[in-house]
Amino acid sequence: MISDFISDSLRTTALGAAMKGAGLAVRFLPIPQPTILVGPGASGRLGQTIAGFGHKKILIVTDSIISKLGLLDELTSALTAGGAEFVVFDAITPDAPIPLIEEGIDFYTAHDCDAIVAFGGGSSMDASKAIAAAVSNPGKSLRDLAGYFKGLSTPVKIYAVPTTAGTGSEVTVAAVISDPERQAKLVIVDTRLVPKMAALDPCLMTGLPPHITAATGIDALTHAIESFIGKWANPYTDDMALSAVGLIFDNLRVAYSDGKNLAAREKMALAATYAGLAFTRANVGYVHAIAHQFGGRYHTPHGLANAIMLPLVLRYSLPAVTDRLALLAVRAKLGKESEGEDALAQKFLDAVVQLNRDLAIPTFLAALKKADIPQLAEAACREAHTGYPVPRYMTQAQCEDLIRQVLPPQTELEVAPRKAATARKPAVATRKPAPRAKKPA
Ligand SMILES: NC(=O)c1ccc[n+]([C@@H]2O[C@H](COP(=O)([O-])OP(=O)(O)OC[C@H]3O[C@@H](n4cnc5c(N)ncnc54)[C@H](O)[C@@H]3O)[C@@H](O)[C@H]2O)c1
Ligand SMILES: [Fe+2]
Repeated sequence: MISDFISDSLRTTALGAAMKGAGLAVRFLPIPQPTILVGPGASGRLGQTIAGFGHKKILIVTDSIISKLGLLDELTSALTAGGAEFVVFDAITPDAPIPLIEEGIDFYTAHDCDAIVAFGGGSSMDASKAIAAAVSNPGKSLRDLAGYFKGLSTPVKIYAVPTTAGTGSEVTVAAVISDPERQAKLVIVDTRLVPKMAALDPCLMTGLPPHITAATGIDALTHAIESFIGKWANPYTDDMALSAVGLIFDNLRVAYSDGKNLAAREKMALAATYAGLAFTRANVGYVHAIAHQFGGRYHTPHGLANAIMLPLVLRYSLPAVTDRLALLAVRAKLGKESEGEDALAQKFLDAVVQLNRDLAIPTFLAALKKADIPQLAEAACREAHTGYPVPRYMTQAQCEDLIRQVLPPQTELEVAPRKAATARKPAVATRKPAPRAKKPA
């Protein structure tokens, strides 16, 4: 017991120091920032602009829903009017798996392209980034490229048009893709993956269904919060994160219930980009570490996985970040500074829970299986402890406890048969009694 405690606390101290050092390095790492066009018609303006850049042929990477909805029209009309050649690869699926991205690489090569427009949600944008990295580094597989700066050559130029207000991938250094063989997500990180230009066009987002608006909006909120409470936060990332949190509390409910509200859609698009600018420098934390495991194993939509874990991880982190949560509460207009940090931080936690409720986000993960929890927690802790500057470390056992809290209700009954027995008879018998150990003869 004591040795467990000692090793955990030692590990915590060592990891804390290592992360602080890495944070200092990140602070001085120049991360490029795209030129950002904002407002109705921005995707057409992006098309007009890049048509003049002299590309031989541009590959537009998107998904079939987006192309069927006609969301590409303004961009493609502008490219045609500007005399630019382009081809469309619209086969991307959520959390694009490696074989699909390989098809995109072949398509790019077959059409002899020299630039990419990443058009869609995070899945299309990240698939585009992965294609860009792979075509410039033909000797490396996508698995080889996973990790930090694994490609020697600079990826081909990417321009981004997000159609969800969530991931912030239009400004980030990361591409998240799925490895179906390992049931895991892979992350390719390279500052040269940041798109050169991005268009935030609210008109493209008015048809986004409410449940996707909700999940992606909470993804953006999670980026803002995790970057703000993490140990790599700096004055620039703080500004971005605070702005994002303010905009999200003011606009997400409106965008959810009145999807055609252009003003709310535009503010949410800005919020997602601000949150992206924050977390691509200050990184994320346990919410993402756990959400990535849910995504890899159960294909849970990324935003939904974050939304389910966010209140629990915040409650766990509270003792280390009361002052920071209090600042977020003030920015979200939940109270005044004079109320004191404890009260404000609690208000912020309550407001996150209420926001989830208003957006019909469940409090549990329907697909979660009790037997998977140790593996999920182990992978989440490995991810967090090797890359994320979390404000309060947790052991694997603590992580398992958190994940257990989002088991679906039926499983909860199975987990606690005695509690169920008092609630209703007959008890749900889910486990056979353990076989008795044989007495030594
Ligand atoms: N690179 C990063 O920095 C970063 C950050 C966070 C998340 N991600 C990754 O991004 C992915 C999730 O992206 P996402 O949440 O944007 O979802 P998504 O791209 O998977 O899209 C979700 C669904 O919404 C639909 N959709 C998108 N835009 C639409 C629109 N305007 N109208 C109607 N339907 C539309 C898509 O067709 C899809 O079915 C995950 O793989 C996640 O890991 C990346
Ligand atoms: Fe995210």
